[in-house]
Formats: sequence, structure tokens, C-alpha cells
Amino acid sequence: MSDSSPDRKLPFVLGITGASGVIYGLRMLQYLLSIEQPVELVLSKAALRVMKEEHDLIVPDNGIKEILRYLELPDNAPVKHHNLMDYGASVSSGSYKTLGMAILPCSIGTLGALANGLTENLVHRAAAVCLKERRKLVVVIREMPFGHIQLKNMVALSEAGAIVSCASPGFYHRPESVSDQIDFVVGRVLDQFDFDNSLFKRWKQDATPIFGVDAKRESAKT
Ligand SMILES: Cc1cc2nc3c(=O)[nH]c(=O)nc-3n(C[C@H](O)[C@H](O)[C@H](O)COP(=O)(O)O)c2cc1C
Repeated sequence: MSDSSPDRKLPFVLGITGASGVIYGLRMLQYLLSIEQPVELVLSKAALRVMKEEHDLIVPDNGIKEILRYLELPDNAPVKHHNLMDYGASVSSGSYKTLGMAILPCSIGTLGALANGLTENLVHRAAAVCLKERRKLVVVIREMPFGHIQLKNMVALSEAGAIVSCASPGFYHRPESVSDQIDFVVGRVLDQFDFDNSLFKRWKQDATPIFGVDAKRESAKT
């Protein structure tokens, strides 16, 4: 297949930064690779730290095998993991075409850098490229509560063209597990890029009882 073939899938850029909830980014990666969507992956140093804290997942600086193993994906999955400081990486240039980028979770540190045009690492640079090329950039922030500076940074980033969202799973899809909540957030990010997915039940789709206690309450009524 030639580079210009319409069948050739453009890569998707995925950034995972050091906010709580790295599982969102990992699940996104797992989903994209499961549909054979090529991914260009950039992990911040803090993301590696959070992976260790939240999942006992120890990933060396340029490691990808550990992540693929954790996600039960084959070693030859179509993912390219870039060194965080490699400004010569493909995703550092606007001439390298991509579908756009999601950063999930996005720390308030990365939010601040993006909102102020800083490019101190490849996550920042790849995101700045998406903004200047008018490609879609979705950031999924995780913090609580928000300070005034962070709120202003969110407005600035939104004005610059990014889609600013929070890792705030809903309940209307009647989640039964933490996985359901993770998939709700990941599914809504996939929606932004028009990836067909059925990771969560959409509004007005069949609902199942919410959590065990409500299920019991419902059955007691009958
Ligand atoms: C276990 C753990 C959880 C963290 N959770 C958050 C968080 O939810 N949101 C956030 O903005 N920062 C969080 N941080 C702090 C960031 O990792 C820190 O600000 C870091 O500088 C972010 O760098 P990065 O944006 O390059 O990943 C957490 C750090 C650790 C170790």
C-alpha cells in the first residue's frame, strides 16, 4: 500500500501525563490498538510515576513492552513510543499528518504549559502542533478542585481550539463497575474523533440497574 492510499490509516497521537487516572490513557491505547489504529504514544515522566503508584506498573523511560504486556496486547501492536525529549520525533512536525491528539489524563501542569505555548517536552510540542495545524486536540483534565489559574488556563486552551474536558464519568449509563466508568470517559473521547465504539451505553439505549444495592431495591418492588 502506498503512503497516499486512502486505506492507509493516519496515526493517532496519544499523550498520557501524570494526573491520577493513567488507566484512562492506558485503556484508550488498548482500545485503539485493538482496532488496529496506529498510535504515536508520548508519556510524561510523571505519568510513569503514576503508573507505578496506581498500578504497580513499572515502565522504563523508553519502555513499551511493559505496557503492552499489562494491556495483554501483542509485542507487534501498531504503537510507536517516543522519547519524551525527542523534538526530532515525527509528531514534532506539522508536516507529519495525524488524526489529532488526545491527552488523557492531562495534568494541570501540562494544561498550564499548553495554555501558555510552552514546549518543554514532546507532549507539549505534539499538542502545540495540533493546535497550529488546526487538528483536533482533546485534553482530559483530572484535578479537584480547580484553582483560578487552572480555570483561566482551560479557557485559554479552549479559545486556542482545544476541546477541554474533565475525567468526569456520568451515571446515566448505569455503571456497574469501575471499568464501566473508565470506558464511559474513554468512549466519550473516542466519540470526539468519530471512532465508532460501544464502550458505554448511550442515552436512551437499554439501561441495566445501577450498582448492586439499587438492583436489590428494584427487585424488592416486584
Ligand atoms: C500519584 C500521583 C497522582 C497525581 N495526581 C494528579 C492529578 O490528579 N492531577 C494533576 O494535575 N496532577 C497530579 N499529580 C501531580 C503531577 O504528576 C505533577 O504536577 C507533574 O509535574 C505533572 O507533570 P506532567 O504534566 O509532565 O505529567 C499527581 C502525582 C502523583 C505522583
